[in-house]
Amino acid sequence: MAMDFHFGRRSFLGLAAGASASVAGAALLGRSAPMASGPSRVRSSGGRLEMDLVAAETAVTIANAHRTALTYNGLLPGPLLEAEPGDAVRIRLHNRLNRPTNLHYHGLHISPSGNADNVFLSVAPGASQTYDFSLPADHPAGTFYYHPHRHGSVADQVFGGLGGVLIVRGALDRIPEVQAAEEQVVFLKDLPGDGDFGSIGMGMMLGREGAVLTVNGQVNPALSIPAGGLLRLRIVNGSNARFWRLALEDHPFHLIATDAGALETPVQLEELLLAPGERAEVLVRGDQQGGRYRLLNLPYARGSGGMMGGMGRSRGMGRGMGMGRGSAQQGPVPVATLAYEGSVATLPLPERLLPVVPLPEPVRTRRFLLNHGMAPGMGMVFLINGRAFEHGRIDTRVQLGDTEEWELVNDGVMDHPFHVHVNPFQVISRNGTPEPYRAWKDVVLVRAGETVRIRTRFDDFTGLTVYHCHILDHEELGMMGTLEIAA
Ligand code: C2O
Ligand code: CU
Ligand code: CU
Repeated sequence: MAMDFHFGRRSFLGLAAGASASVAGAALLGRSAPMASGPSRVRSSGGRLEMDLVAAETAVTIANAHRTALTYNGLLPGPLLEAEPGDAVRIRLHNRLNRPTNLHYHGLHISPSGNADNVFLSVAPGASQTYDFSLPADHPAGTFYYHPHRHGSVADQVFGGLGGVLIVRGALDRIPEVQAAEEQVVFLKDLPGDGDFGSIGMGMMLGREGAVLTVNGQVNPALSIPAGGLLRLRIVNGSNARFWRLALEDHPFHLIATDAGALETPVQLEELLLAPGERAEVLVRGDQQGGRYRLLNLPYARGSGGMMGGMGRSRGMGRGMGMGRGSAQQGPVPVATLAYEGSVATLPLPERLLPVVPLPEPVRTRRFLLNHGMAPGMGMVFLINGRAFEHGRIDTRVQLGDTEEWELVNDGVMDHPFHVHVNPFQVISRNGTPEPYRAWKDVVLVRAGETVRIRTRFDDFTGLTVYHCHILDHEELGMMGTLEIAA
């Protein structure tokens, strides 16, 4: 879709271009009329997705309060992008922030080089960058996530609001039971409340969490389900550091897809834990007798160690900030409300989804040790194999076509969600216990004290990319390494 609009004052205030398109997008995201400079939903057509994204600090209204946030095209979350396997994507990013930024297409299996998913590009304030890439013809369908990835300003920019959802439609969407479901994006983000930006040092070590819990940029929005019907939630954790542990009153989740695509069969869950960067697609059955049901965020302690827990708690106290332990939040917090609306003939759950082919035996096993320590002159640093991230150093060299097994060992006192760019992986075991089902992931939670084994194959793309902790404050404080995929 060719979206040519201008970035003058008029388009920010006037909403001329794409006003009607934004109605459809607003409905899908369940948000109120945005103060946008473009449509809130952009779909590819004729094999092309082409658009502009303006990163800027803008005014937003959340829970009837006016505030500023970092947004794409004035929207929080950014516009919903929809593409199909084989599409050519061209995104022109315009940096109206006061610090450098860039764009990462989290979870997409695309090139990390040139002006594709290259996290080493830096777009200066006032500058623009065109991103160009093609989705492989066999790219899996799923729910993906775009966000800034300029080392040094990633965490601040994501914490400040930047991020959006990119859907790839494909085989999963054509399964009749899935196709019959109503679809709803659920973009999770906690925004800083007044004063949450202060005291960066300690907050960053713990991983900053914001006091304002939003779903699609709203506080406790209404979601709807038809009696007898199915609701498909595409859930994205777009937070800097907060883990979301979700439960829907009287309605179990039927997990149909993880980060990078479909499962083989649905898995019933009473609650769903998502670390930053993780996604899940679930089906919900409208099998109750009407009424309203709260989508709850349950407390989760992601560990901060005895040495910092006290400080995290006292900072958070009285403000519900949940800093540090992720559980200054004492009890469940309603984050959205599901209401019954209308009815349809009872729809069944799918029995089979898509094959998840196991990877072959690895040609090599590597070990990644995650922890933190003190560095002279730097204070606390977060480390992978004893080293903090350094530009220009290549930490891990792999061969295109190889399958490898990576052993992720967390011997620290905080949980670390480990993320790898470009190629998804399968989780093989956790503390020696095999995973209960096969799934494609690109973020895996490695809790304090755990050892997780993942298996991946370096398919299709060569170049230099990264792996890191997706608590973005930890990434900024060093918990990232470079990965070179050689031909
Ligand atoms: Cu979602 Cu390297 O990031
Ligand atoms: Cu990523
Ligand atoms: Cu971490």
